[in-house]
Amino acid sequence: MKVSIVGSGLVGATAAYALTLRGSCSELVLTDKDEKRAQAEAQDIAHASPVSHGTRVSSGPTEALQGSRVVIVAAGANQKPGESRLDLTGKNAAIFRELIPQVAACAPGSVLLIATNPVDALTDLATRLAPDHAVLGSGTVLDSARFRHLIARHAGVDPTHVHGYVLGEHGDSEVLAWSTVTVAGLPVDEFMAARGLPWTPEMRAEIETGTRDAAAHIIDGKRATYYGIGASLARITERILGDRRAVLTVSAPTPEFGVSLSLPRIVSAGGVQGTVMPRLTSEEQRALEASARVLREASAGLEG
Ligand code: 2OP
Repeated sequence: MKVSIVGSGLVGATAAYALTLRGSCSELVLTDKDEKRAQAEAQDIAHASPVSHGTRVSSGPTEALQGSRVVIVAAGANQKPGESRLDLTGKNAAIFRELIPQVAACAPGSVLLIATNPVDALTDLATRLAPDHAVLGSGTVLDSARFRHLIARHAGVDPTHVHGYVLGEHGDSEVLAWSTVTVAGLPVDEFMAARGLPWTPEMRAEIETGTRDAAAHIIDGKRATYYGIGASLARITERILGDRRAVLTVSAPTPEFGVSLSLPRIVSAGGVQGTVMPRLTSEEQRALEASARVLREASAGLEG
């Protein structure tokens, strides 16, 4: 049960820490172009291992990826305050063109889990650069978690009993699919009415803004986001390792939209096994098509 992480910055290291605390894998390898950084992060995280689940944590060069079941790719630049994820396309695509063929050669048979932004365009690119690998992107797993967290807070229930999906781009054009939201098994509007809770268009709009703008807000306050994405990466990785057939809004190439984007996908040992297309309202469907258009434009000219 070996997992490797390429890119030991804040996102890669936090994913490694989450995997270690959760005991998701038996062996974990961190790599980075800055080997000293990877080594220091691995050492620090290894000290959490004896007091959690005993994961063997180490660092190494790209060759150390050999034998990984999952390789998380978190290398590249992250957003500065005021930048969008799509602003990173050129910079991070250049890194991927060099990195992904090396990763693919060193970790045959592994599933590549892409976290670097813009995650949808880079999932598309990595799919072309590593045609023999299963590739998926963390997509809107994090945005769906943010959405569920805010709804749960309003509903006054445990967020694990709130279900609902954010679809399309992991970015500004993402679609908050209210029609998919249930709380304790009830459609969200029915739940709020049954509990006698106020539920106005303004409250829904506040949840939408809170979800869509979460990253910008956090980056403004502390320059980066990493706990939410770190836990999301650990969750996706566990579901792959456990062959769980979990339904997660990961990003994957989607022929009907001509681009990689997030939809509820069945995720197991071989990566994405299928898509469960939700029944959307016509407004949500139009928004999803608009999000796909944004992504097609962002991916145009990104030859693999
Ligand atoms: C996030 O949504 C920045 O994509 C990163 O937290």
